Amino acid sequence: MSKMALISGGSSGIGYSLSRYFAKAGYTLLWVSLLPEEIEVSKKKLLQEIEGCTIHTLVEDLSITNAAHKVHQWVTKNEWSIDVLVNNAGFGTYGYLSNTPLEKELKMVHLHVVCVYEMTKLFLKDMTNKNKGTIINISSNSSFQPTPKLSTYGATKAFVTHFSRSLNEELKMQQSKVKVICVCPAAIENTNFKKSGNMEKVRTFQGIAATTVEEVASDIWKGFSGGKDFIISGRKMRMLYRISGLLPYRFQQFLVRKEIKEIA
Ligand SMILES: NC(=O)c1ccc[n+]([C@@H]2O[C@H](COP(=O)([O-])OP(=O)(O)OC[C@H]3O[C@@H](n4cnc5c(N)ncnc54)[C@H](OP(=O)(O)O)[C@@H]3O)[C@@H](O)[C@H]2O)c1
Repeated sequence: MSKMALISGGSSGIGYSLSRYFAKAGYTLLWVSLLPEEIEVSKKKLLQEIEGCTIHTLVEDLSITNAAHKVHQWVTKNEWSIDVLVNNAGFGTYGYLSNTPLEKELKMVHLHVVCVYEMTKLFLKDMTNKNKGTIINISSNSSFQPTPKLSTYGATKAFVTHFSRSLNEELKMQQSKVKVICVCPAAIENTNFKKSGNMEKVRTFQGIAATTVEEVASDIWKGFSGGKDFIISGRKMRMLYRISGLLPYRFQQFLVRKEIKEIA
């Protein structure tokens, strides 16, 4: 039986580009996304590109209570065994907290925090029983420092980074063969993320550390294949990350403020 990769948000952006690598390596793909039409279009596209690839899909709103359990039940009912879980589904909101939409942000908190926690916990148990498997959690470079106008988004991603890296250390202490990889991409020019978060005019997507979805997927695949557990993507962000610790906090925040603002 072929290996299986379960990818939330597999039908677009990072999830889709990463799916191409897994499919080419012979993995069966399991996608969980929100929009049925988009899943069908993306599935057709990938099946045309990669001969012999298998994709199973589930339409599920992962930002609501019990969604992770439904995904786990779908997998269990089909007697599938997951080798790689990618917690990737996500979206952003942009603006001063006094103006951002409450309901949308609550959904984002659920999707990035509660759902990532539950999916990790449910599938970790299965992987621990087999003593093999990898969980890849997609965080963000906005988890590294305060991100004004992305305060809720950045805080949810700080949870993802801290949780993933701590859990991976825990697994090392237990001498487990299960691994958690934390991925922190820089702002990506060419996914739906900018549009869905009303960030089309925000400078960071063309700014000093911006990257592309192709570079991010390639970095994740190389890191996954090369045994990494912390991946900063892409190249410009990796350089900035190395020097940022040497910069005074005020200067770091000056740069962040310049980046997270609208282009006139
Ligand atoms: N783009 C960036 O600049 C950037 C930078 C750092 C980190 N990230 C992170 O990377 C991840 C992927 O983002 P992307 O750039 O690839 O954006 P994207 O193209 O908008 O993809 C997001 C995916 O998440 C799915 N999704 C969103 N809300 C969902 C929900 N409630 N239930 C189920 N699925 C849902 C979407 O499904 P539908 O299409 O069906 O709605 C879509 O497949 C996110 O976690 C994001 O925070 C992005």
